[in-house]
Amino acid sequence: MKVLGVSGSPTENSNTDALINAILDATGAETEFVKLSEINVGPCIACMKCVQTNECVLNDHFKWLSKKVMEADAIVVGSPTYYGAASAFMKAFIERLYSKRHVKLLMRGKIVATVAVGVAAEKMVAEWMGNALRAGGMEIVGSMTAKGTPCCFVCGPGETCNYTVWNAYSKELTGMELGVEEAYKGYLELLPDNKPYAHGSAKFLKSYRSVKDELLVMAEAQRIGKLIKERIENSKMIAGDSKCKC
Ligand SMILES: Cc1cc2nc3c(=O)[nH]c(=O)nc-3n(C[C@H](O)[C@H](O)[C@H](O)COP(=O)(O)O)c2cc1C
Repeated sequence: MKVLGVSGSPTENSNTDALINAILDATGAETEFVKLSEINVGPCIACMKCVQTNECVLNDHFKWLSKKVMEADAIVVGSPTYYGAASAFMKAFIERLYSKRHVKLLMRGKIVATVAVGVAAEKMVAEWMGNALRAGGMEIVGSMTAKGTPCCFVCGPGETCNYTVWNAYSKELTGMELGVEEAYKGYLELLPDNKPYAHGSAKFLKSYRSVKDELLVMAEAQRIGKLIKERIENSKMIAGDSKCKC
């Protein structure tokens, strides 16, 4: 039983990586973790040369990675949220899976779990990844999102910057209740003179949010890992039964 994790986060030891690895560990399977930022997988160029062969002709690490994807019983894909979307690394990887769709739908029934980490828009990323992979015939058995570290916690001028993340995602500016203030309660204190896009004023109580400190989040990752294990075992049992001639 093989499970492959693919991370679209370029950050070292990121929260996305931590959740993918927690899911992989909980499967109890032979696992492998690939960080897209450490290899070279570019975007699809729509040449359509994969149409009859299901092989992408571009000469980069997708050839190597797609072999691993095809061999895995399940894959766990995870991305941070960048501009309300998956990272460009993840987007390119999913675009390139297009080569497996044509005519034969080679990824049909592949067991997949998705992970999206962000500050406010991670649910949009989870939804997009799920839709894109489902369109390739894959079966999403689990999908989770988690709050990560806002860049403003680590960039330097965050506490006083006019364009801080919590102001950019505030109800005043977006007209939506994105729950940033609530989610970062123990991490951030907005000071009374803070005014979205006019004057940033906050105090950081913690500079990094690690999903490893979030017990419910880690428990969800473990639950998804176990679910993957069960689904693989069931599908192997069904495949075994269908071969039985007795
Ligand atoms: C270029 C860039 C754009 C970002 N845009 C968003 C965004 O639109 N929405 C959001 O919720 N978070 C956004 N973030 C914050 C990241 O999603 C957040 O830092 C997340 O924790 C990163 O996950 P990771 O540490 O697992 O890589 C952005 C971060 C970067 C670097």
